[in-house]
Amino acid sequence: MEIVKIEHKIISYKLDELTQNIQQLLKEAKKMEKVAYAPYSKFLVGSALELNSGSIATGCNQENASYPLCICAERVALYNAHVHHHGEIIKRLAVTASNPKKLISEPVSPCGACRQVILEFENRQKSPIEIYMQGQSDLVYYINSASALLPISFSSEFL
Ligand code: THU
Repeated sequence: MEIVKIEHKIISYKLDELTQNIQQLLKEAKKMEKVAYAPYSKFLVGSALELNSGSIATGCNQENASYPLCICAERVALYNAHVHHHGEIIKRLAVTASNPKKLISEPVSPCGACRQVILEFENRQKSPIEIYMQGQSDLVYYINSASALLPISFSSEFL
């Protein structure tokens, strides 16, 4: 028997401990919450990607009366970047959320499906995507790579 230990660091910051650049990226994600289409869950998610060129690509969640068709803010931003900034490296992703029904004091982290998709982008570009997460407080979680969110993941290596 062998025990395989996998360790990843999640760093917890107060918003004002982060660089202006990162604070701005989180602001861009927060702005996107305002255009989220979430009439069913009322859970508003915004996302913003910073690319190597300095460009920002954003997204928000998009819901549908047929619930399984809802798509998360993270994937909207990633596909937006793919289409409008094709070939650019994604340096970091900011994801923020708010809930008008209940205060989200903890940072919100990407769902399982989004983790798999973020990781596909990371593997493709062969360069880590940093992730910053925030709820409705000034607490921000940071991880240095999407792979930290999905250990022993499924990838194209198996195909
Ligand atoms: N949602 C996101 O946009 N990102 C996440 O990481 C978690 C969930 C959205 C999907 C749905 O519109 C709503 O939040 C409630 O699940």
